[in-house]
Amino acid sequence: MGFNVEDIRAQFPILSRKINDKPLAYLDNAASAQKPLAVINALKDQMGTSFANVHRGLHTMANETTEAYEGARTKVAKFLGAPKPDNIVFTRGATEALNLAAYGLAHTIEAGDEIILSQMEHHSNIVPWHFLRERKGAVLKFVPVLDNGELDLDALKSMLSSKTKIVSLVHMSNVLGTINPIADIAPWVKAVGAVFVVDGTQAAVHMPINVVDLGVDFFCMTGHKLYGPTGIGALYGNAEMLEILLPFNGGGEMIEDVFESHVTYNDPPHKFEAGTPPILEAIGLGAAIDWYSQFDPKDVHQHEMAVYYHALDGLRDINSFKLIGDAPNKGSVLSFNLEGAHAHDVAQILDKYGIAVRAGQHCTQPLMTRLGIHSTARASFGIYNTLDEAERLVAGVKKAAHFLS
Ligand code: ALA
Repeated sequence: MGFNVEDIRAQFPILSRKINDKPLAYLDNAASAQKPLAVINALKDQMGTSFANVHRGLHTMANETTEAYEGARTKVAKFLGAPKPDNIVFTRGATEALNLAAYGLAHTIEAGDEIILSQMEHHSNIVPWHFLRERKGAVLKFVPVLDNGELDLDALKSMLSSKTKIVSLVHMSNVLGTINPIADIAPWVKAVGAVFVVDGTQAAVHMPINVVDLGVDFFCMTGHKLYGPTGIGALYGNAEMLEILLPFNGGGEMIEDVFESHVTYNDPPHKFEAGTPPILEAIGLGAAIDWYSQFDPKDVHQHEMAVYYHALDGLRDINSFKLIGDAPNKGSVLSFNLEGAHAHDVAQILDKYGIAVRAGQHCTQPLMTRLGIHSTARASFGIYNTLDEAERLVAGVKKAAHFLS
């Protein structure tokens, strides 16, 4: 392992908290990750020493803040392998990024055009496309998920046709942990002339991303799962697509000229960032990327998967344990159920032992329906989790299995 997990933990003040008199084991990173001092201090410093609105002023702090905000855009571009900072639109999060993509492409859709999604999508990559079904008569098609949690790639290939206008798929599932082969899928999507949108919310945290190598048109990410602040995310778009995309917020800064008769727009990405943007949040995301980029993503992945497998090995001893999502290529998301027990009860018992996991549908109702379940308990591991925490999870789930059987 190329880093010392205890050194990393020391940089997260919240991890020394106690919950119910037990040391916190924070295993809910797929929902939101904790923040290192580098991010906390970057926000404090910016607020305490230099803050103003961006792009608007001629005074010193306006220029300093603009530089920091645009600097964060450059960091996101580099992090995602985008050719230029101008490929990056700041949004409030991945949900807003996906909504922007869907809304902004609506004018390219006619009744009967097909949009291909998958059964493992988060609601944020389903509902915005339902808007196009309701408003434009688009037809939504869902790529099936196989029993082990992999995408049915043969089915995807057979669904693609000249009717396909958009394909929007998750890179790494927030429930199954499945990592979809986006770079392999991209040429199939391009072959039918469709636009390829990828929800990289989880993937951007757990593997190196290069949007050019992946061959995608749009790629969404969020800051708060990447050890950064809430309220900030990004939509990468290639230059051609950002020209086609229409803005969905109108207001200051996104315009070139405004007349009584008409309006002309600023160039991308500013065309999509009406009003005062989330300045501090973007700067915080830049700090999170700086912090995270000191680690080799391979080391991070190796560490997170070691914790994942340590937990899984222990959990498999429990008779009623059922793993949800066993794809050969997956990240550190461990969804499970205990036969005869409700996932919420499991999560509540774990909380008594200081262990934070998520339970429920995880905003993936079609996936739950496909799997024939109502919910799962989910432990999701991040850079600061330890083998000891994996053992505490196993011990907690054993207790839950005993109480709830
Ligand atoms: N999408 C987030 C999750 O999976 C909130 O928990």
